[in-house]
Amino acid sequence: MQKGILMKFGHFDDQAKEYVITTPHTPLPWINYLGSENFFGLISNTGGGYSFYRDAKLQRLLRFRYNEVGGDIGGRFTYIKEKGEKAWSPAFLPCKTELDSYKCHHGLGYTVFESSKNKISATSTHFVPMGENCEIQRITLTNNSNETKELSLYGAVEWCLWNAVDDSTNFQRNLNIAEVEIEDNVIYHKTEYRERRDHYAFFGSNVKADGYDTDRNTFIGQFNTWENPSLVTQRKSGNSEAHGWYPIACQRFDITLKPEESRTIIFVIGYGQNPVEKKFIKPGIIRKDTAIRIMDKFKTEKAVSNELKKIALHWESLLSKYQVSSDDEKMNRMVNIWNQYQCMVTFNMSRSASYFETGTGRGMGFRDSCQDILGFVHLIPTRARERIIDIASIQNEDGSTSHQYQPLTKRGNDEIGSGFNDDPLWLIAAVGAYIRETGDYSILDEPTPFKNEKGSEKPLFEHLRASIHFTMKNRGPHGLPLIGRADWNDCLNLNCFSETPGESFQTVQNYDSGKAESVFIAGMFVKYGKEYAEIARRRGEQEEATKVEQAVSEITKATMTAGWDGEWFLRAYDAFEHKVGSNECSEGKIYIEPQGFCSLAGIGKDEGFIEKSMDSVRKHLLGEYGVELLSPCYTTYHKELGEISSYPPGYKENGSIFCHNNPWISIGETVIGRGANAWDIYKRICPAYLEDQSEIHQTEPYVYSQTIAARSSFANGSAKNSWLTGTAAWTFVNISQAILGIKPDFDGLRIEPCIPPTLKQFSIIREYRGSIYNIHVVNKTQNTNEPSQPQLKVDGKSVKGTLIPCSTTKKTCTVEVEV
Ligand code: GLC
Ligand code: GLC
Repeated sequence: MQKGILMKFGHFDDQAKEYVITTPHTPLPWINYLGSENFFGLISNTGGGYSFYRDAKLQRLLRFRYNEVGGDIGGRFTYIKEKGEKAWSPAFLPCKTELDSYKCHHGLGYTVFESSKNKISATSTHFVPMGENCEIQRITLTNNSNETKELSLYGAVEWCLWNAVDDSTNFQRNLNIAEVEIEDNVIYHKTEYRERRDHYAFFGSNVKADGYDTDRNTFIGQFNTWENPSLVTQRKSGNSEAHGWYPIACQRFDITLKPEESRTIIFVIGYGQNPVEKKFIKPGIIRKDTAIRIMDKFKTEKAVSNELKKIALHWESLLSKYQVSSDDEKMNRMVNIWNQYQCMVTFNMSRSASYFETGTGRGMGFRDSCQDILGFVHLIPTRARERIIDIASIQNEDGSTSHQYQPLTKRGNDEIGSGFNDDPLWLIAAVGAYIRETGDYSILDEPTPFKNEKGSEKPLFEHLRASIHFTMKNRGPHGLPLIGRADWNDCLNLNCFSETPGESFQTVQNYDSGKAESVFIAGMFVKYGKEYAEIARRRGEQEEATKVEQAVSEITKATMTAGWDGEWFLRAYDAFEHKVGSNECSEGKIYIEPQGFCSLAGIGKDEGFIEKSMDSVRKHLLGEYGVELLSPCYTTYHKELGEISSYPPGYKENGSIFCHNNPWISIGETVIGRGANAWDIYKRICPAYLEDQSEIHQTEPYVYSQTIAARSSFANGSAKNSWLTGTAAWTFVNISQAILGIKPDFDGLRIEPCIPPTLKQFSIIREYRGSIYNIHVVNKTQNTNEPSQPQLKVDGKSVKGTLIPCSTTKKTCTVEVEV
């Protein structure tokens, strides 16, 4: 191993539920999310990031520069300037002054920087209080020297002119429109408020500032940058008022600290909205009630501490729904803290705003958000329910659906359109998971529109019916489901045939063959067709259930014949009915997705297909850092396959370790009882186990990334696109349900662990439908990969089978399990 390659950049603090980063020089910005309702902030370990209200594209508060060089210089800035010394920032950026000490604590919904320079220490805490549309920064400065210190503290933000795309492109307009108001320690950003906006942003502090600026050029100076604003160097303010150009909000505090003395300032970045007819209190002057109320609420340190406590309690109660304790502390911390936390973040963001997703592109994805629910539903089922209805509301009456929607408008996004033929089936997955968790069948009766059209509402169940029949109606020459624009793999574009540079593979369809088929969707159909039939039957729709079960067995058969390549499941048939993902192909012989989904759907279980498929995965796709998406990678562009072959070998969909579908393989292994293999796959991509290889892995060791470059790439093991990935939800399903074996079922909890021999015993506390289950599992088997029948004792009594029906469960119940 090369020197430095095992390098860690911090450590987990499980007690505090934090990852503590001990140097600003991480391989990439390591970020955290603030807020989990309507107001959100992204914040990196060097203080970069931005904030927005609900929609990262349309209601962006703080500006963020993409493609920035010199570190991630985001929209919020803190400077500490001592007389005669170079200014510094507690988060290192933007000043880049080397600090005497530095720590960044990323916790659940908050981030704290603790650093020091020249015997002054700073503790800067950032979070979004629950139930409020604002972000707080509480900063405490302490003089640790024997002399009195005189310094100035500056807090600043750079405003984005709301629409983040327009903000970075439409300068001929934008440089003329900025407007601010300054009143009582609060700076109001009111660009476009004079016309159609009913909202403003504000930046204020809890005590009177000694100076302020709202015009960026005045503050920074023409040839400086945020690293060294000229007024900070001079320890001054310009008290400037922005008209057009670049509006900012900056406040300066001159502070004298005696030895051991501390001083705390509270900054608030907020969002206020007014009823249209009450926007102004007098001509041109905006109504500020919301800002005034919020500023007042957070003016004391006590108020701020209380809010932080509320967030901690909130998380404690959410996480208490599933807690494991075992000898494996890495698994414990991932299951108990970080995996569930990431599930919340993916639920909130879908794939919109991260350090790899700009927030200006994608809205909420139909397929993505449905899958996110699988890992989120146990946390806050009521929010999962709302989300399901929002998603279903963009569906078309024939079951097909818009692929995305904008969170602010909740309407289908026409730019991306529809035609991704896996989409409809994910809705069944989400609703099934919701009912299994809650037992709440009433969701099926919820009136839900099609295409967001008023008057088109039908019970949600009709959406599921439309979904399942969509696949049944759209089958190809081999009886397998048609792929449409693409299935889960956005880049397998079998009807696209693009030859124009820059054309989006996601929207172009030059040759709709009506023939290209997906074995992956076949696997999905078998899995969710059974799920749907079960739900239909419970609704008294026997005939419908039987009809769909019939289709399930047809598609199972088609998969086992036309969809089987001898050693593994085929991936697809292209527009000319050629095989994709077959041993006959020269490249792309085997793909991960159908191995995962057909196996977890149980296709060909009795006939040994799953064993073969899983063995082939291990043989052809398994690398040190996880299972690769396909092999061998495409070395040239194939227009009949589309975007997949646009990536260089080993990256993204062209054969990287696409983490999202690794858990499918792991779950597939549990279907045939191979606990050791399932565990092996779980561990390979699990960030906590990669912590001491952060130099290679690069992204945050506390969350999953979408993609890890594969053996065929130039950067084996290096991850990209952290945070917003379906890996979070699917991994939680995998570890919590398939491996540790606590499976919510329609009538109760099913306990079926499938574990490696190394996991000798573990305990789980699971809160489920109002009862608390204290589960203790003892692993007596020596077999690594053999199925075993778990023996259950519930409240001391042996029971038959593995289901604990809710109807028989008391408020708390003890379950002893032996495998
Ligand atoms: C991205 C998309 C997801 C898709 C995957 C594979 O993660 O968000 O919808 O399934 O890529 O292409
Ligand atoms: C690109 C990416 C894919 C993503 C898609 C979304 O094709 O490779 O992962 O899902 O864009 O638009």
